[in-house]
Amino acid sequence: MATPEDLIAAAAAVRGNAHAPYSRFKVGAAILGDSGRVFVGANVENAAYPQGQCAESSAIGAMVAAGDRRIVMIAVVGGEPGGEPGDALCTPCGGCRQRIREFAAPDTAIHVGDPAGLRRSFTLDELLPQSFGPTNLAF
Ligand code: THU
Repeated sequence: MATPEDLIAAAAAVRGNAHAPYSRFKVGAAILGDSGRVFVGANVENAAYPQGQCAESSAIGAMVAAGDRRIVMIAVVGGEPGGEPGDALCTPCGGCRQRIREFAAPDTAIHVGDPAGLRRSFTLDELLPQSFGPTNLAF
């Protein structure tokens, strides 16, 4: 079974395929699905800027297309080795926290790193407390 370090390595590798010519901020994401498989995705920007897609969205799409429906854990790798100015972490954006919520539990681990490796781990509930989700719609 993939470890957090395995997922960070997979996210760092797929980050290299990101299409980010506008922001130049490449991001990779890797998900361990309930089948034990790992799904990866990178950010895909667009000349019409709002049409861009985050790495997490790409990885979630790959997972769903392959038939898995649960995120066991997810890793996100963004920025440059050693971190961004101000040492900011590349945590998932607000929209992606909600996208992760659709397929994850409050205690699902979200590992955040840069190309040099794992920097911090959170639970989904830490990043998206009191969240709205499938249970609100009795699903
Ligand atoms: N981005 C991601 O792919 N995931 C994140 O968690 C944060 C931001 C992307 C979106 C855009 O292509 C670039 O990073 C800069 O915002």
